[in-house]
Amino acid sequence: MKISASVGVSSFRRFNVLIFTLAAILLAPVIPASAAKKIILDTDPGTDDALALMLALNSPELDVRAITVVPGNVTAAMGLDNATRMVSLANRCDIPIAAGAQHPLFQKLITAEFWHGKNGLANIELPASKCKVDGRFGPDLIIELIHASPHDITLVPVGPLTNIALAVEKDPSIVPLVKEVILMGGSISGGNVNAASEANIYNDPEAAQIVFQAGWPLTMVGLEVGNKALFTHKYLDVLGRTHGPIIVFIFSIAKYLVDLSATFGAPGSPMYDPSAVAVAIDSTLVKTQEMHVDVETRGEFTQGETVGNRQNMVERNVLHGDRYVIEGVDKVKANAKVCLDVDADRFLQLFVARIEGK
Ligand code: BDR
Ligand code: CA
Repeated sequence: MKISASVGVSSFRRFNVLIFTLAAILLAPVIPASAAKKIILDTDPGTDDALALMLALNSPELDVRAITVVPGNVTAAMGLDNATRMVSLANRCDIPIAAGAQHPLFQKLITAEFWHGKNGLANIELPASKCKVDGRFGPDLIIELIHASPHDITLVPVGPLTNIALAVEKDPSIVPLVKEVILMGGSISGGNVNAASEANIYNDPEAAQIVFQAGWPLTMVGLEVGNKALFTHKYLDVLGRTHGPIIVFIFSIAKYLVDLSATFGAPGSPMYDPSAVAVAIDSTLVKTQEMHVDVETRGEFTQGETVGNRQNMVERNVLHGDRYVIEGVDKVKANAKVCLDVDADRFLQLFVARIEGK
C-alpha cells in the first residue's frame, strides 16, 4: 500500500512523540529533595541562559539555592529584570535572586543584543515579576551560602566570571568549601567571538583567570560541548506539542535561536548554557580530560583564550650566557576537567523531557 507523504510524515511525528514520551518517563528520576545537588546559578540572561535556568528549576537532581546576575549578554539591570521575570514565571519566588557586579573587572562591558534580542530574551515580553530582588550583593550572597553549607554547594556560572572572581577575592576561604565549579565558558579549539576566544571568558578574562587558578574542583564546559549539541527542528517539534507557561516561553526562545542559526546556515542552535546545567545533573553526559588551563589576559589576537596544556608539562629553560638552554621538563598541575565530547542526543532529550508539559 502506498502511504501518502502527509500520512508518512504524521506517523513519523507520532513515532517521534512516542520515543520522546518514553524518554521523558525514563529520564525523570524520583530524587528526595534532600539528595538534590545544591547549586548557585550565576547568569547573564540571555536566551540560552533562559534555557539553562528553566532546565535547572525543573530538574529534581538540582536544588537551586540562589540565582546571581552578572552583566554580559545584557546590562546588569536588564539581566536582573529578566531573571526575576523568569523565576516568577516558574513560580519559584522562594529562590533568592541577587544583583552582582555592574561591569567586568578591568574592561568595558560588551552586550550581545545582536544575538539575544534587544531585551536579551528573544524580544519576548514576560509578565512583570511577582518575585522580589534579594537585597544582598551577589558575590556576598555566594560567600554566605557557601559558608552556610560547607562542601555542599556547586557553583554553575553561565556568564562572564566577574561575580565568582569578586567572591573569591573578597573571601578566599570559600575555595576549599565549594564542592565544585561547573562553568560554561572557554574552548580549546577556537572561539566564537573571534578566532581564539569564547564569549564568557573574553568578556572578563582577568576574572576568568582568577576562577581557573583558585584551586577548587572545576569543570570547563566549553564550546566543544555546546557546538556539538545543536537544538534542531526535531527537538523543537517535540517542545511544541505541549502547552504551559514555561514551555510556551522556552519554545519561543528555542525557535528564535533555531531560526537565528538558520540565517547562518547552521542546522541548529548550540546549547551553550544548558550544557553546564546538564553536566551538573549528570556528569556522564560528557567526556573530560584533566589539564592545566590558563586564561590569556595580554594577547593581541588571543585575549580571553583558555589555553589548555594537554601534556600538563612545560620545558624548563635556563639562561646560559647569551641564550637559554632546555634542561628538562616541569610538570604543571591540572586545574580543570575540560569537556571534550558530549552525548548530544541524550543531553537534548534530557532537556526536552524536563521542559515538556511545564
Ligand atoms: C556564552 O556566551 C553568551 O552569549 C551565552 O549566553 C553563553 O553563556 C556562549 O559563548
Ligand atoms: Ca550566558
